[in-house]
Amino acid sequence: MSDKFQILEALRKEAMLGGGEQKIADRHKKGKLTARERLDILLDPDSFEEMDMFVRHRSTNFGLEKNRPLGDGVITGTGRIHGRTVCVFSQDFTVFGGSLSETHAEKICKVMDLAMKIGAPIIGVNDSGGARIQEGVVSLGGYADIFLRNTMASGVIPQISVILGPCAGGAVYSPAITDFVFMSKGSSYMFVTGPNVVKTVTHEEVTFEELGGAETHASKSGVAHVACEDELDTLNRVRDLMRYLPSSNTSALPHIPTIDQSDRECTRLDTIIPANPNQPYDIKDVIKTVVDESQFFEIHADYAENIVVGFATLDGRPIGIVANQPASMAGVLDINSSIKGARFVRFCDCFNIPLIVFEDVPGFLPGTDQEWRGIIRHGAKLLYAFCEATVPKLTVITRKAYGGAYDVMNSKHIRGDYNIAWPSAEIAVMGAKGAVEILFKKEIDAAEDKVAKAAELETAYNEQFCNPYAAAERGYIDDVIKPSETRKKLIRALNLLETKEDNNPWKKHGNIPL
Ligand code: HXC
Repeated sequence: MSDKFQILEALRKEAMLGGGEQKIADRHKKGKLTARERLDILLDPDSFEEMDMFVRHRSTNFGLEKNRPLGDGVITGTGRIHGRTVCVFSQDFTVFGGSLSETHAEKICKVMDLAMKIGAPIIGVNDSGGARIQEGVVSLGGYADIFLRNTMASGVIPQISVILGPCAGGAVYSPAITDFVFMSKGSSYMFVTGPNVVKTVTHEEVTFEELGGAETHASKSGVAHVACEDELDTLNRVRDLMRYLPSSNTSALPHIPTIDQSDRECTRLDTIIPANPNQPYDIKDVIKTVVDESQFFEIHADYAENIVVGFATLDGRPIGIVANQPASMAGVLDINSSIKGARFVRFCDCFNIPLIVFEDVPGFLPGTDQEWRGIIRHGAKLLYAFCEATVPKLTVITRKAYGGAYDVMNSKHIRGDYNIAWPSAEIAVMGAKGAVEILFKKEIDAAEDKVAKAAELETAYNEQFCNPYAAAERGYIDDVIKPSETRKKLIRALNLLETKEDNNPWKKHGNIPL
């Protein structure tokens, strides 16, 4: 028997080395971690259970039968993050550049199927040269098998993609379907075609980093949700995010113990709104003042900064926050912010995470650029997402709630459950200046002192419309509160709404304006 144990031990040892000691040393020299070291950081200590360590590829093309490393370039299995089970795969660049063969794909599909069966998140660490060239169409089929599973798992289990190396060609479409993409600055890139092809086709000269690096995707394209400093930071940030997420769409939300009092007064908020309604303030200050221990996990921090989205907790309960940002483009809604907000709202709704909206929005961004690129269609995404969401939905109007944007930002009319306003709220069709110019053009033109007349009319308009009380009179908002009461009121409402039940009519699926 001891011989058999020795064989097992030898095989295990061989599998641990992936593409071999030299290749591991080369990785380390480049400042890169191995696929296994990454899992060690991502998962709780000693929690990893590997699957399919003994899988080898079946290809005989180009003499591949002479080189059949154990594991075939991807490490798969289960582990725990903050004590909760997750399924993982981590591509091993030391084996054929982490390229995806038939068996490599089968391993990924198997662990994805397991994640679906047990209701656990799937986290994939991507570091691959793409389709294994020697295997041809078999490898492309393997990708398609993964894409199908990504789509089937969407909304059932959280799916996280961690990009820590190349991810190019069609390979990018698996991360693109997943819920959150994390990239590491300077060492990861994603693109459909690389700089050489770009140069041939469009004659543009662009570096890997400029074309598809972490900062590009986190700020320009929105493909990456979180851009991190290095590999270690990336893996730790994924762990941070997992604190807020349930294991599946049918599991309970995690509870994060807090020392923050549920009835804590947020006195700072009573003076946060500037006297001049056109002066900005940072909505993140509001968010951090309200939530537990000022902890806010921001998603898409550098993309469409006029809307802020991310996770936090209130009295230990995970919440998803969507907030207009007056400090960026006055918080106006444009194409990118609508898309960013809509996708986040839909994620939260899939996974039963209550939504909290902080609203200060002057409206949708006007102009030919926005109109011709489809602000109507894209703005409708955010509207659609809020309308269809059935999780507890709470809105705090801090200042402006103008025009269509008032309706869109989780208004009472689209099933907002608890809609409140600060006394500084201005809920109206439009701001005083624009309204007065339209309504009283003749009177202003006829006046001797046009400026004084316009100012007088603006004051009258402001008194009548630019306050929360016209909306409160109709029950469109449930309460007007002092800003310092915000945390206490939101926590009480969340408690109340814990047993909320709401449904949409049966359908195969809706037709969100994509
Ligand atoms: C097989 C591959 C490979 C691949 C890399 N290798 N990519 N083997 N299939 N796709 C091997 C190399 O031969 C080399 O083997 C080892 O991995 C490391 O590669 P290097 O080139 O030495 O590394 P580096 O200089 O860091 O460059 C990494 C790279 C480059 C930029 C990823 O290898 C590269 O451009 N690879 C090809 C990428 C590509 O075009 N893939 C197909 C994309 S299309 P040895 O034995 O020398 O160590 C695609 C379609 C998917 O993926 C469609 C889905 C629908």
